[in-house]
Amino acid sequence: MKILTAAQTRQLDQATIQEQGITSVALMERAATAFVAWFQSRFTPVEAGEILILCGPGNNGGDGLAAARLLCQAGYAVHVALLPAEKHSADWQYNRHSLPKAVAVVETEQLPALAPGTLVVDALFGTGLSRPLAGAAAALVAQLNQAQARVIAIDLPSGLFADAPQPTNSAVVRAWHTVSFGLPKLAFLLPQHAEFVGEWHVADIGLSSGFIADAPSPWHYTDATAVAAALPPRPKFSHKGTFGHALLLAGSRGKMGAAVLSAGACLRSGVGLLTAHIPGCGYDIFQISQPEAMCLTDKQPDFISELPDLHPYQAVGIGPGLGQDAASLAVLRQLLKVAGNPLEKTGQPLPLVIDADALNLLGSHRALLKLLPENTVLTPHPKEFERLTEPARDDYHRLELLRSFATTHRCLVVLKGAYTCLATPTGELHFNSTGNAGMATGGSGDVLTGVLLALRAHAQLPPFEAVRLGVYAHGRAGDLTALQTGQAGLVAGDIVRHIGPALAEV
Ligand code: ACO
Repeated sequence: MKILTAAQTRQLDQATIQEQGITSVALMERAATAFVAWFQSRFTPVEAGEILILCGPGNNGGDGLAAARLLCQAGYAVHVALLPAEKHSADWQYNRHSLPKAVAVVETEQLPALAPGTLVVDALFGTGLSRPLAGAAAALVAQLNQAQARVIAIDLPSGLFADAPQPTNSAVVRAWHTVSFGLPKLAFLLPQHAEFVGEWHVADIGLSSGFIADAPSPWHYTDATAVAAALPPRPKFSHKGTFGHALLLAGSRGKMGAAVLSAGACLRSGVGLLTAHIPGCGYDIFQISQPEAMCLTDKQPDFISELPDLHPYQAVGIGPGLGQDAASLAVLRQLLKVAGNPLEKTGQPLPLVIDADALNLLGSHRALLKLLPENTVLTPHPKEFERLTEPARDDYHRLELLRSFATTHRCLVVLKGAYTCLATPTGELHFNSTGNAGMATGGSGDVLTGVLLALRAHAQLPPFEAVRLGVYAHGRAGDLTALQTGQAGLVAGDIVRHIGPALAEV
């Protein structure tokens, strides 16, 4: 699913109106109907109680007025407060005049007195916001945020920019839920806006799919549709060589768990064969916990200091639990050099997945970045990414840094977090839809490395498709796990056990 700018969203409305031969009022009615359908799926008239709809002067206010009419007709107790304005949009006026008499309307700059817990629908401003809120609008939003109301925003919390950094301390509604239309907004996916957006939902209002397909945008949202059928079925007459032989360089004294988790995830993600190269101290631990994997031990007992012959492998993962010994740095340097030579079979460099301490080593020896083979996968969390680049001023700046890093080094960067963001060598940013806060626990990243390693070893999966699928499946496995363990009770090993079902779903 594509994510568009606010300007493109306005064009999308216009394109829909022209293409489908409908009026803008008819499109507004669709939006209000979709909003009310969502509302009814959540609250009965009794549960909702008194509903206050705050309407601004533009079409977002028009959506609010149309929703007020529809909710009233459906038996909800609705009243409306209009923010005074010199002019109103034509569709606003149409819906103002269509309000049934049963809906009480006040025009006021003050928030009407509210009982705690009152449901307030925020229809003050949407994507038409052109500047930070000031004056009466800002004061009203401040009052609303202070009242202990449950706020549901139509399209966007008022005062929030859909696609641009928010000026510090600007007034923005803190919504409990945000119900948007057609496509998610970029602002919904960034941590700095979470306190305003609350839980967000996208309702379908039949917007022009042709316009969306043609609209240029670097931003994408990976949902189930994007990865449907991404994993080729396993042919009946296949054998273990068909699905690739992966090599994992992982573990050090005290961190063998990372190697075990990563290997387990790789094996559960369909790899044909897995060999792990680990320090001597980990031999028993690893062999006992991962009997399906083969194991090479380093001459060093506590860390990895040797690079094995890479000829047998179709992909290599390095980093989980690696440590940052100088000898491990030398192994990483050697790996980058050897992997950069095109393989005879594919004409491409050996696929690499680089995580954890291997990223930290890259961060402290940035000259090595020049050696990254094309389409190498890097899986940093924000702190690791900062070590590779620079501290980000805000979430938007971090996205810029991410794009620039991926295009400069022609690699695939998986920036981990809620809505993990995959940056491609061509500058696209793909936000992932799966996963939950329970996955913020030690070892989750090691599991992701294992999943990605298996999928990069798969001969039939192109690099981008493999990584997008892996990120989605990892999050989905976390979601399936949380259904059983709850988020607080989730540990990384549980995710490994749900990778199979998650991949089977797609
Ligand atoms: N302070 C005060 N006023 C402001 C501020 C500000 N900080 N920022 C913007 N405004 C004014 C604008 O100048 C504008 O007024 P103007 O038209 O007189 O210039 C007004 O607020 C616009 O506010 P919005 O209601 O946010 O913007 P718009 O009228 O473009 O509507 C929309 C946004 C289309 C409703 C969108 O949020 C939405 O919900 N889309 C879903 C589909 C839909 O409902 N479409 C509606 C019908 S189709 C159509 O509108 C073409």
